[in-house]
Amino acid sequence: MSLFITFEGVEGSGKTSQIQRLKKYLLQKGIPCKITREPGGCPISEKVRKILLNPGHREMVPMSELLLYEAARAQHVKDVIKPFLKKGGVVLCDRFNDATIAYQGYGRKMDLALVKRLNHISSQGIKPDVTFLLDCPSDVGLKRALQRNRMLKQEKEERFEKEKLPFHQRVRKGYLAIAKKEPSRVRVIDTREGEDKVFEKIRKIVDNLLVGSSEL
Ligand code: TMP
Repeated sequence: MSLFITFEGVEGSGKTSQIQRLKKYLLQKGIPCKITREPGGCPISEKVRKILLNPGHREMVPMSELLLYEAARAQHVKDVIKPFLKKGGVVLCDRFNDATIAYQGYGRKMDLALVKRLNHISSQGIKPDVTFLLDCPSDVGLKRALQRNRMLKQEKEERFEKEKLPFHQRVRKGYLAIAKKEPSRVRVIDTREGEDKVFEKIRKIVDNLLVGSSEL
């Protein structure tokens, strides 16, 4: 039984804690699983992440940004995602293709057909079985993300958090458009319901998938 599960959402949508909870839940059931993330997930792609999220890189043009996300993905899919799925494990990935459509396509207003084509190439035939879109209004999420950075005294990794609210509103619009187009894969969960309720919804959907895949 192999499953590829991705988590998406605007900044501050609480993906990290839900991913951790799901990992704990799966391990308790004796199901091998692995948390990974994009951009990043393997040594080369983590280096690309540092370049992408460095707040000093103000001069980075949207095309090089897009290509770097895709480059990081190509390496990550080959080194981490494909091998783990092949072994029959569950991969929990913090962002994937949908993020590039939402951020570079909708946020940066890059050509959507180009973004999709590059996503298709870099993901090498891998598609999430389910994607949890943790949704909340962009201003609510952004506030949470900035608060978290302050608490962690984290000055780095904030190139996108420096973007103004309209950018983040376009990103959210992009995510919701993807969910509307692919409702059976992309499950939208309102994070304002609170962490516990959000996890209950995720757990139920994953349990159903596990039953389905063990019957195959
Ligand atoms: P994170 O903060 O959720 O780890 O994500 C890192 C940042 O990278 C986040 O601001 C979203 C952005 N991003 C893109 O712009 N395009 C992409 O394809 C991915 C995977 C992430």
